[in-house]
Amino acid sequence: MEIQRLTINDYKEMIRLWLTAKLPFKPKGRDSREAIAVEMKASPDFFLGAFEDNHLVGTVIISCDVRKGWINRLAVDPSYQHRGIAKALIVESERTLRKHGIRIFCALIEDYNVISKELFKECGYVEHHDITYFSKRDSDEV
Ligand SMILES: CC(C)(COP(=O)(O)OP(=O)(O)OC[C@H]1O[C@@H](n2cnc3c(N)ncnc32)[C@H](O)[C@@H]1OP(=O)(O)O)[C@@H](O)C(=O)NCCC(=O)NCCS
Repeated sequence: MEIQRLTINDYKEMIRLWLTAKLPFKPKGRDSREAIAVEMKASPDFFLGAFEDNHLVGTVIISCDVRKGWINRLAVDPSYQHRGIAKALIVESERTLRKHGIRIFCALIEDYNVISKELFKECGYVEHHDITYFSKRDSDEV
């Protein structure tokens, strides 16, 4: 398994993978081809893919402000799960964020997603029970 930067040419495969992994995403909004192309141009090293024999089997999208780094859209093809691919993508995400001066790594995980919560705990992340996430959106697709 190799971890490489994704390019916009991987977009179709990325969407296929998210659908197969049942990852919720926003195809008309911030996950549209156009929106992803703009983000990739601005932060080319923030889109990572895990490849097996040139076949995309895992993804992660990193984002950061000047304080914190975020791990988003982490997904692994069900046929390739339980082999440490998600763990490797998290480690690589942290390495990339450190290069950008980030020392705090975060993820937002739905409460029902026990597997993902276990994964992040396994990677050394602390679960906060005393914080409630607030957001305000211009539309449901953003
Ligand atoms: C969550 C997901 C990315 C994990 O991918 P993966 O490659 O199978 O994970 P790994 O093999 O790297 O597992 C690492 C750790 O995660 C935990 N984990 C993974 N699968 C698990 C399961 N089915 N049950 C409990 N814990 C699990 C374990 O702690 C595991 O460590 P171990 O192998 O030493 O036991 C994958 O299940 C997925 O794509 N899920 C759907 C999309 C999603 O929910 N993404 C996360 C959004 S926040």
